Amino acid sequence: RFASQIESKSAATMEVNQECPGNLKRQLEKLFDASLRSTVPDNTRVKPVVTTSPLDRSGDYQCNNAMGLWSMIKGKDSQFKGPPAVGEALLNNLPASEMVDSISCSVTGPGFVNVVLSTKWMAKSIANMLIEGIDTWAPTPPVKRALVDFSSPNIAKEMHVGHLRPTVLGDTLARMLEFSKVEVLRRNHVGDWGTQFGMLIEYLFEKFPDTDSVTETAIGDLQSFYRKSKSKFDDDPDFKEKAQKAVVRLQGGDPIYRKAWAKICEVSRTEFSKVYQRLQIELEEKGESFYNPYIANVIGELDSKGLIEESEGARVIFLQGFKIPLIVVKSDGGFNYASTDLTALWYRLNEEKADWIIYVTDFSQKQHFDMFFKAARKAGWLPESDKAYPRVDHVDFGLVNGEDRKRFRTRASDVVRLVDLLDEAKSRSKTALIERGKDKEWTPEELDQTAEAVGYGAVKYADLKGNRTTGYTFDFDAMLSDKGNTAVYLLYAHARICSIIRKSGKDIDELKKTVELVLDHPEERALGLHLLRFAETVEEACTTLFPNVLCLYLYSLSERFTSFYSIHQVNGSPEEASRLLLCEATAIVMRKCFHLLGITPVYKM
Ligand code: ARG
Repeated sequence: RFASQIESKSAATMEVNQECPGNLKRQLEKLFDASLRSTVPDNTRVKPVVTTSPLDRSGDYQCNNAMGLWSMIKGKDSQFKGPPAVGEALLNNLPASEMVDSISCSVTGPGFVNVVLSTKWMAKSIANMLIEGIDTWAPTPPVKRALVDFSSPNIAKEMHVGHLRPTVLGDTLARMLEFSKVEVLRRNHVGDWGTQFGMLIEYLFEKFPDTDSVTETAIGDLQSFYRKSKSKFDDDPDFKEKAQKAVVRLQGGDPIYRKAWAKICEVSRTEFSKVYQRLQIELEEKGESFYNPYIANVIGELDSKGLIEESEGARVIFLQGFKIPLIVVKSDGGFNYASTDLTALWYRLNEEKADWIIYVTDFSQKQHFDMFFKAARKAGWLPESDKAYPRVDHVDFGLVNGEDRKRFRTRASDVVRLVDLLDEAKSRSKTALIERGKDKEWTPEELDQTAEAVGYGAVKYADLKGNRTTGYTFDFDAMLSDKGNTAVYLLYAHARICSIIRKSGKDIDELKKTVELVLDHPEERALGLHLLRFAETVEEACTTLFPNVLCLYLYSLSERFTSFYSIHQVNGSPEEASRLLLCEATAIVMRKCFHLLGITPVYKM
């Protein structure tokens, strides 16, 4: 029954919905697709590619297909003399559209077709979004159900600064997919199984002979509990032997050992949830142990497909391109990290029917993921192409370093807990608010909530703004600065826009219905264009799994707002009503970015 279940799993068929009304790039690509087809009717190879124009070019977007088309057709007796001629034909064959104001193509060079958008159309699109909501600008990835495996700490080890990235990165990816109307399973693959539990359980028995009475406070700091049991394990051969036997009894299902194990997991869980609560992160735990009942069957299924071989007493899968095989059954007969991950993948594909599975861990696990993904392909669980669905991705990231590692340690080996780090971020931002006299203006609750939004927001943003593949230095002073590309600066910019709107005393919802939004001045148009690039940016961040793209967008959005606002008066100007709408649209897009990054916006600062 089990095997046939696996067989019946066919590559998920999905309706690929590429419509996205808010996505300018996609809409232009559709136009150029038509143009491509009439220019070179037998073309099947070259797909339309539209990019934002570099600053030094005339135009807002450009189509870069002429070169590719040219190299495809040049051998045959082509009517075209070179790429510029192809570009010109693309231009001439472009269907008329109200979004386009003018198109041009230079007579030399690679034949780029430059598109200048209609300013009127741009204004209308923004006005539409104001009425219909920003959800109309959400991406539409070809996925129904995604599973994001993120955070995933190991039991009995306290969450420290190193856990920030897998938690924050995974959360923002989940948020972007949720915004895209994909159902997301937010999965916490906690390390709750393995040989370390032998020593933890034995140590627990020693300290608390009556396991029932053990409470969280009794165990106290789990990390030092772990450390003490580890040093006993290393120093005391009798204890070591007991611990090894304990593992066997635990894995054999002995109820007393199971109970002790469950207790330790529970205490850990309480610790983790404090961090998740502070960061407002939702996760559903299915730890490694969850997959135990399925492992033997899944390994059996791989075996029946002829994937598994014996090697030095272990059972392994040899994979092309790797010097070492993937061990799936250790020489002592036990299962390991890889067998669990293969089983979890099987479960996610077959039981949970996920069509996109995303794993967030640091780069040191890259080989592990590459290998078991490859094994899954070999087993026919996944399509050959790594871009086809159902699809798996490993989102790897570089490490967080303290500029001075000691700052993250209290005693010799005590890494600073993530909760304490977050508390410090909050208290530092509170101090900064008090220095600005906010304790006299606001209620204590407002002060506290703002300090939290700013403090936690700063920590998250500092983690997300850089390219995830490189590490970064954790630096409170830099992340809490109100200048430059920081959450503080961005939250402040948003609050300022809100205050402009508040001070006008106007009813924005009324204005949306009665006033025409215009983008007459260059700064208004530039701001408007950037707003309209929101949809394509989220799509890029979400499909390439690089959230820093969205951070960069958000930062330039506030810069563009500043350029607009430093030149143009809003309140009291003849263009007041239209400009208030532009302010409102900017605030809405900023808030959506904050939301996607897991940052709580503030409305006054
Ligand atoms: N618990 C692991 C660690 O701390 C991360 C688990 C990631 N997820 C997975 N399915 N392997 O390194």
